[in-house]
Amino acid sequence: MSTPKHSRPARRSGSPGRTKLVLSGVVVTLAIVGAVLWFVRPSGGGAPVSLNDVERRGQILYRANCASCHGTSGQGQVNWQSARPDGTRPAPPHDVTGHTWHHADAVLFGIVKEGGAYAAPPGYAATMPGFKASMTDQQIIEVLTYVKTIWGPKERQYQSSMSEMGPFPSDAQR
Ligand code: HEC
Repeated sequence: MSTPKHSRPARRSGSPGRTKLVLSGVVVTLAIVGAVLWFVRPSGGGAPVSLNDVERRGQILYRANCASCHGTSGQGQVNWQSARPDGTRPAPPHDVTGHTWHHADAVLFGIVKEGGAYAAPPGYAATMPGFKASMTDQQIIEVLTYVKTIWGPKERQYQSSMSEMGPFPSDAQR
């Protein structure tokens, strides 16, 4: 600590001092690369952290209208698979553990627009409200486009092939 710098023998490239410097440069570079990989890593079912414009608008809609029941990361409510004593059901997850990804776009669109009774058996005690009074068709498509980012590639691929037979309505009002 107290040795003055000038008392050391002069060092050329390749000396231990230089090696140390290069090594710490490598460590810093690795730390940066690691941090970047951490931020872009898949989370949940493989949700990419970088969203496109439509997905970002959908995320805002999701947080405002859906997250209170379905969870911020689409995890759903506890015991969602069991009906309550009154016949109602907790909100199911939208992540890979649920079955939102089993449904074609047309069905998902109908559920969000009309509510939980859409495509359910008669007499089903639905509690999810329909959003047709508060969201445009385009916003419904945006929120569902965001929900798809919660899935992994396998779920996305399956759901997209399901949707060939049941796409979003082509006359969706913008
Ligand atoms: C008040 C709580 C609540 C809110 C708010 C809510 N949901 Fe739901 N959601 C439910 C429940 C409960 C169900 C199951 C059907 C039922 O019982 O109504 C459901 C079912 C669904 C399904 C079908 C899932 C499946 O596996 O079949 C989709 C898709 C869905 N919701 C999307 C949304 C979207 C998108 C929003 C926001 C625009 C939203 N929900 C807001 C409670 C809610």
